[in-house]
Amino acid sequence: MTATTDFEVHSARGPFNAAFFRVMGPYIEWSVRRHKRRVFADLPPTVVEIGSGVGANLRHLAPGSTLVAVEPNPHMHRQLSAAADRRGVHLDLRDRVAEHTGLPDHSVDAVISSLVLCTVTDPAAVLAEIRRILRPGGTYRFVEHVAAPAGTPTRALQRALRRPWAWTFEGCSCERDLAGALRDAGFARLDVEPYRLHSPFITFNTQIAGIAHA
Ligand SMILES: C[S@@+](CC[C@H](N)C(=O)[O-])C[C@H]1O[C@@H](n2cnc3c(N)ncnc32)[C@H](O)[C@@H]1O
Repeated sequence: MTATTDFEVHSARGPFNAAFFRVMGPYIEWSVRRHKRRVFADLPPTVVEIGSGVGANLRHLAPGSTLVAVEPNPHMHRQLSAAADRRGVHLDLRDRVAEHTGLPDHSVDAVISSLVLCTVTDPAAVLAEIRRILRPGGTYRFVEHVAAPAGTPTRALQRALRRPWAWTFEGCSCERDLAGALRDAGFARLDVEPYRLHSPFITFNTQIAGIAHA
């Protein structure tokens, strides 16, 4: 592991997660479609995505667009590449972590993510990196799952399941206050909508979607 590839690749859980998101992708997409359509509307021709996985968000890019995909799990790469080909999106794949994208300061119009800030090692460092690479007026559009309000049964379940959940989903936490992290990150403007899904994955049902403006 180095500063730019600070990601532990699991020989079993890496392929498992690639397969899980390929199989469950359509269901997850259906669950969050309204929120993704709103925040991923009118993306520019070149978009940076952190944690692209197997390409769940390619459908929100116009054919002919370029996706700069910052994705450190090599088990995702083949399917991501194939999905980009199918969608007619040019893929610029970066085998790096979102904490260190290697992209120049103020060089990007839009950054997107879905279900990634729950898994990165350091969400504050990732948000600082996103602010660093965005041009003034650029946008970070996100759909993420977050901690349920303290004292609720969902929050208790998130607490109880935190270890097996994190083990299975390569470090994913259901206990992060990501709206708070976004507010603390110093964006010029922030629109965040909290909502609740009704999926069988109860710990994952408390979510936020929104747009942060650099
Ligand atoms: C839960 S999956 C979500 C994938 C995809 N965005 C989706 O919505 O299906 C989390 C993704 O974040 C990636 N990831 C984990 N740590 C990361 C990091 N530090 N920087 C960038 N991506 C990371 C994982 O490899 C995985 O592809």
